[in-house]
Amino acid sequence: MARPRVLSGIQPTADSFHLGNYLGAVRQWIALQDSHDAFYMVVDLHALTVHPSAPELRRRSRVAAAQLFACGLDPERSSVFVQSHVREHSELAWILICQTGMGEAGRMTQFKDKSAKAGENAAGVGLFTYPILQAADILLYQADQVPVGADQKQHLELTRDLAQRFNTRYGPTFTVPSAFILKEVEKITDLQDPTAKMSKSSSSPQGILDVLEQPGPLRKKVMRAVTDTGSEVVADEENKPGITNLLRIQSAITGTPIPELEARYAGQGYGTFKKEVAEAIVELFEPIRERTEKLLGDEAELDRMLAIGAAKARAVAAETMEKVRANVGFLPTAG
Ligand code: TRP
Repeated sequence: MARPRVLSGIQPTADSFHLGNYLGAVRQWIALQDSHDAFYMVVDLHALTVHPSAPELRRRSRVAAAQLFACGLDPERSSVFVQSHVREHSELAWILICQTGMGEAGRMTQFKDKSAKAGENAAGVGLFTYPILQAADILLYQADQVPVGADQKQHLELTRDLAQRFNTRYGPTFTVPSAFILKEVEKITDLQDPTAKMSKSSSSPQGILDVLEQPGPLRKKVMRAVTDTGSEVVADEENKPGITNLLRIQSAITGTPIPELEARYAGQGYGTFKKEVAEAIVELFEPIRERTEKLLGDEAELDRMLAIGAAKARAVAAETMEKVRANVGFLPTAG
């Protein structure tokens, strides 16, 4: 039996991944490498929706790719690539745009949120078609499962609808993928506002833990994390969201169940606990930062690794596109 195929993507829109990206996505992608036929990409076409400058996009794409490898994705076992290296993404996106209703695209809650933030009529068309490009990413590779956070569920539903619609209109072409919703237990919140998700777009710098950050500032941020009244280290989402977030972080990193951590820190107060959480984070991030810096210092090696991924991705994408082109009625090219 062939291994099920998984595919996911991460946007190169920051100068570092943060702890939420790592625990909520990248670490779980790594775990799927051996049991699945895995495709992971840096989605630079999607990043254009927020208008980075060319040097910024280049830098962030490199940093994202280097971090994926530094975190443990293996170019031999997985296909790790940059989306724009495979031209078929844009080609399939147009064809899927033509299968999508205005109302259907307009109902996407992320589009509504992002366009509301941009202000009336200021949102770009790219934000509107963003989920359709994402559908193209997924369907090009005939992915069986898409490991994403719960916030991507609606985009996955759209992808499934488009696959089914296309297959009905033009004949069997695409695998209809299922969402593989990543573990919510590992939902990480903002250190300064522990009821909000840790997020590059909404967290303050003090609220976010960057993978590439130096140990000093990392420790400081954890020590200054908003905690709750009282002094008991216990998980209580409602009354102690700050401590609960730190417990979740500690548990996710060390693999120790939360009740065991609660027992260990009983009667010790917040100070000792926070210090140990900070150490766990520093220990996790240090080697990743070092490997990332090494790869960023050797562009030829990074490019070589990405070329391996692009070649594997292109082979699959080209095969799907050949089918798509024939099924929609495009004329074959001579020769
Ligand atoms: N929209 C996804 C996010 O912001 C990123 C993404 C783009 C993606 N293409 C994808 C995720 C394909 C999974 C599969 O997280």
